[in-house]
Amino acid sequence: MSGEQPTNLPSEQELAEMSRDELVKLGTKLDGVELVHYEEKWPVAGTKAERRAQRAVATWFAISALSGLAFLGVFLFWPWQYEPSHSDRHLLFLAYNPLIGLFMGLSIFAIGVGAVLYTKKFLPDEVAVQQRGDGPSAEVDRATIVAELADAGERSGLGRRKLITRMAGLGAGVFGLGVAAVPLGALIKNPWSDSDSKNSLWHTGWKSENGEKVYLRRHTGNFHEIVKVRPEDIEPGGFETVFPFRESERGDEHALVAALKRSDAPVMLIRLRPNQAVVKRQGQEDFNFGDLYAYSKVCTHLGCPTSLFEQQTGLLLCPCHQSQFDVFHYAKPRFGPATRPLPQLPITVDEEGYLIARSDFIEAVGPAFWERKS
Ligand code: FES
Repeated sequence: MSGEQPTNLPSEQELAEMSRDELVKLGTKLDGVELVHYEEKWPVAGTKAERRAQRAVATWFAISALSGLAFLGVFLFWPWQYEPSHSDRHLLFLAYNPLIGLFMGLSIFAIGVGAVLYTKKFLPDEVAVQQRGDGPSAEVDRATIVAELADAGERSGLGRRKLITRMAGLGAGVFGLGVAAVPLGALIKNPWSDSDSKNSLWHTGWKSENGEKVYLRRHTGNFHEIVKVRPEDIEPGGFETVFPFRESERGDEHALVAALKRSDAPVMLIRLRPNQAVVKRQGQEDFNFGDLYAYSKVCTHLGCPTSLFEQQTGLLLCPCHQSQFDVFHYAKPRFGPATRPLPQLPITVDEEGYLIARSDFIEAVGPAFWERKS
C-alpha cells in the first residue's frame, strides 16, 4: 500500500516498460519501506557449504515423500483385519494403526522440518520497516507488488536450487496423494465386490449363515465365557448391550473376538415397562418380543454408540452430538443431528427360551453412505 505518494508517478506505459528491478525499487519507495539490514546467506553461489545445506533440506523433503509412500502402501495393502493373539499374523494386525499414524506423522513432520530448514539456511537476513497506510491500494501498488513477490521468490534462491524444489514438490505431491487416498479409497478398492456377505455395508454380524441361529449374547469381559440372554434376564425398564453368537463359534477364539469387535454388532436390548404405549414402525410391528426391543447401538448420525437410556422418557442418547432417539416411537430421532431412526433387530426366543435374532437388520446400520436409500 502506498505510503507517501510522490507526485511524479510513472504513467501506465512507463510502468509497462520498467524492468522488475526498477519496479521493485519503485514499490519499496512507494510503500515507505526502509531496508534497515539486508544480507545474503550465500553471497558466493555454489560453494561446498551451500551444497551441503541444500542436500540437508532436500533430504527432509525426500523423507517426507518416502513416508507418504509408506503411508499409502500401508493404508491400501496392510492386513488390517483382526487376528487372534495365537495367530502368526497377530502382530501384523496390531501394527496397522501405529504404522498409519507413524508414516502420516513423519511425512507431515519432515515437510515442516524441510521448510523451516530452508528458511533458516537460504532466505536472506532482512530487516525492513514500513509505515502503516490507510485506504485501498492504488493502481501503481498493484503493479509493483507483483514485481516484489517475483523478486522475493528469486532472492529466496528456490529458482536455482532445483534439488530442493524437486524434493519439496515430490514430498508435497506424495503427501497430497496419501490425503486424497482416504476419501477416494472406494475408487481404489471396491467396497461392493462382496455385497451379500456379512462384511458388506448392507449386512451386519447378525446375518445368519446356512440357517444357523444367531443368539443375543451378553459380553462379560471374557470372550471365552458364553452367556446367552433370556427374556427374564432383563428387568422391566432395564437395558443391556448384546452381541451376536453362533454355536459354531464356540471355542473358536478368532470368531468369538471378531463377533464382539465388529463395529456393526452392538445392539441395545431394552425391556420397556409393562403396558407402555409404543408406536411401531410400519412393516416392523412384530420385530419386538413382548416388551423387549432391540435397536442397533450405532448412531445414524456419525456412528457413535448410543449408550445412554432414560427409562422414564424412553429416550436413547448419543453422547457425541446429543442426538436423542425415542424408543417409545420406533427409535425415531427427537433431537440432534441424526435424521434416521435406529434400525431395529427382529428378535424372538428359541425352543430353549434364549433370545435369538429372527434375521439380520433389514436396513443398513450406522451413518449414511452414497448408495443408501433409507
Ligand atoms: S454420532 Fe451420534 S449424534 Fe453424532
